[in-house]
Amino acid sequence: MQEQISQIKEKALEAIQNAKDAKELDEVRVQYLGKKGELTLILRSMGGLSPEERPVVGSLVNQVRDELEAKIEEGEKSFANKVIEERLATENIDVTEPSKKMTLGSVHPITQVVNDVKEIFIGMGYQIADGPEVELATYNFDKLNTPPDHPARDVQDTFYVTDDIVLRSQTSPVQARVMETQKPPIKVICPGAVYRSDSVDATHSPVFHQIEGLVIDKNISMADLKGTLEMFAKKCLGEKTQIRFRPHHFPFTEPSAEADVSCFVCGGKGCRVCKGEGWIELLGCGMVHPNVLRNCNIDPEEYSGFAFGFGVERIAMAKFGIDDMRLLYENDVRFLKQF
Ligand code: DAH
Repeated sequence: MQEQISQIKEKALEAIQNAKDAKELDEVRVQYLGKKGELTLILRSMGGLSPEERPVVGSLVNQVRDELEAKIEEGEKSFANKVIEERLATENIDVTEPSKKMTLGSVHPITQVVNDVKEIFIGMGYQIADGPEVELATYNFDKLNTPPDHPARDVQDTFYVTDDIVLRSQTSPVQARVMETQKPPIKVICPGAVYRSDSVDATHSPVFHQIEGLVIDKNISMADLKGTLEMFAKKCLGEKTQIRFRPHHFPFTEPSAEADVSCFVCGGKGCRVCKGEGWIELLGCGMVHPNVLRNCNIDPEEYSGFAFGFGVERIAMAKFGIDDMRLLYENDVRFLKQF
């Protein structure tokens, strides 16, 4: 039997030597060491041996099995290495090959304007405030001194979620939210999306963006409002920009005004951008109405303030010479790449 074992060993070693790949090597393993392998069968047939022979044969078989297993493992490793070497040889990287062009996005014109405006006001000591887009009607209207029969409350103008909840139609409700949670002095701007029940055309969209401003402190006057907006207009639209105020009405300010800027394209002579007027309407503003202060628990005898609000799209369109608002929302890369 020892003779038979050493023959099996020789045959197996030769087969291991001759195996051409991992698969053939595995076949050798099955043939000799598998459940029905030649060496395994020897172990199984040991029952017929004498008690003296059994341990001798047993240990010989184990020794041979260990040896074969080691050789097979060695072979497997070298086949695995060969595969890697072959891949390394064939898959070499040409580092001189020109790379694929990376396309970088750009900041959307609306975001650019918002960022510029934020920068200007942060420079004047303002903080950025935020409020919900799905807003209580109380904040959108009542706290802002807007009477129950005001046309802006009409369902034709404002999107109602329920009788008491609206999609905010202006960023002005953030004024009330800030006044209720912060003590004066207050200096904030609030950029954000607003919603109105408008059909889409070149100058209207049911979703657009506004930036609200609010300053509350002791002894704030209309002169502070004017100086602030003048400074802002020059920084945002160019140092030569002039500003003018026209009386207007807003429920939440008294007095109220609309502010125009001299056309930054023609300098006021009249052109396509200002439609021959020389002036471009910029924003609504005024001194915060005492009722609004009272509604937000601020004593109008002690404090006063100003507020303003303007549309971001309008500025972006004028600044970048965009004549159709829809272009700002279509997100056509060919359009956006230009800014
Ligand atoms: N909320 C106004 C609008 O959407 C704009 C506005 C006017 C805001 C006067 C103000 C303001 O803060 O004082 O038309």
